[in-house]
Amino acid sequence: MVIFMFEMKNVSIKVQDKNIIENLNLTIKKGEIHVLMGPNGAGKSTICKTIMKHPNYEITNGKILLEEQDITNFQTTELAQLGIYYISQNPTAIEGVTNAEMLRLALNAKTGQKMGIFAFNKKCKEIAKKINLPESFLHRAINDGMSGGEKKKNELLHLWMLEPKLILLDEIDSGLDVDALKIVASSILDYYKENQPAILIITHQIKILDTLIPDYVHILKNGQLLKSGPKELAQEIEKNGFSSVFEPMD
Ligand SMILES: Nc1ncnc2c1ncn2[C@@H]1O[C@H](COP(=O)(O)OP(=O)(O)OP(=O)(O)O)[C@@H](O)[C@H]1O
Ligand SMILES: [Mg+2]
Repeated sequence: MVIFMFEMKNVSIKVQDKNIIENLNLTIKKGEIHVLMGPNGAGKSTICKTIMKHPNYEITNGKILLEEQDITNFQTTELAQLGIYYISQNPTAIEGVTNAEMLRLALNAKTGQKMGIFAFNKKCKEIAKKINLPESFLHRAINDGMSGGEKKKNELLHLWMLEPKLILLDEIDSGLDVDALKIVASSILDYYKENQPAILIITHQIKILDTLIPDYVHILKNGQLLKSGPKELAQEIEKNGFSSVFEPMD
């Protein structure tokens, strides 16, 4: 059996004729938590959007593999069906489509089976309770009119329902109040313990890493992964800033 593994090999990315990422190499295995840090505009969100096949982002070199299968040219729907889930820095609002409607369709498409309405409702309600999301949100339009923090929790509802294998969390912790951050982080930890997904966390704050303890921390600057290291690297950046890790060692 092939062990679940996500790989980016020598990937270069161009956005609107501008080269943003150069020869990026990243491997995330099942059960590993990786953190990607870097200054604003370094290209962190670009990496996620490219993985999800956003049409504005072009891979000019290299390839992306999932369980040894080349997925570089897969469409977003296929990537989702393979179990890749991206929580965007700014979750998209979809007017006129409720969470419940979308999730039921998405689950049926994923499993190829129609989930009974009672089982579906029960699961939705259990998850809403777990992440402290009012049940009424199940019947609200996806992220529409929700506050920044509510959108992040709403995305967690999708995560628990769709049960992905690779989770890309782009600043899931931004805009969350202290209590919401605890709920969101411990909910992701519960999911991690139950399902052993591969996780990529993009963050500017290390608080979330107290709960979701990373195996590796990567630093992106000027389109390149300049440094990778253990969890202490994130603490060093929090304390001394990015310049400290880029300066040559004595
Ligand atoms: N669709 C786009 N059109 C034009 N430029 C873009 C586009 N998407 C990204 N860029 C540019 O690519 C660079 C990287 O942006 P990206 O959003 O990936 O940064 P980031 O590392 O996620 O930053 P932040 O920490 O602020 O979220 C920026 O200079 C940005 O302006
Ligand atoms: Mg970003």
